[in-house]
Amino acid sequence: MKRIILVGFMGSGKSTVGKKLGERLALPLVEMDLEIEKKANMTIPTIFSQFGEDKFREIESDVLRMVLGKEGIIATGGGVLTQKDNVKLLERETSVIYLKGNLETLIKHIQKDKRQTRPLANNANQEELNQLLLTREPDYQKVSDITISIDGKSINEITECIIMALKEWK
Ligand code: S3P
Repeated sequence: MKRIILVGFMGSGKSTVGKKLGERLALPLVEMDLEIEKKANMTIPTIFSQFGEDKFREIESDVLRMVLGKEGIIATGGGVLTQKDNVKLLERETSVIYLKGNLETLIKHIQKDKRQTRPLANNANQEELNQLLLTREPDYQKVSDITISIDGKSINEITECIIMALKEWK
């Protein structure tokens, strides 16, 4: 069974790159944020505002366990590694790819994105986002087998870099 997992901060392009990569490798895309909304039957901002972040993380962890049984490209949410059990689970996976961007790139992407799935980004200023990125960075690195720098690259370029890296790494 082929499963490729994309991790990285909000705005790193996990969903858009995941879609392209899925097309190139003929694998379905599984988006954790969508699966969370389906499971909770409400939007991510509603989960946060009505039940709080802890409840969101609980659902997210359940969804992670569910998607780790699937074949395909798995686009995780940027905060999935805030739960230590999730770090352990992803460390055991064999094809985890970290889409690494600098703060400037990430903020540019977050601002362009029309989806309303990021209450943590909406309520944070640049310095707070930077702190969050610095806190999360070690865990993205820890679970990943391959790191791809996304700065200055198009979706197609990032996708090709992943395909090349996967070939070299296997
Ligand atoms: C989050 C990232 C979001 C979404 C939720 C929380 C985070 O996913 O899961 O808003 O804590 O970084 P994306 O990384 O797809 O934006």
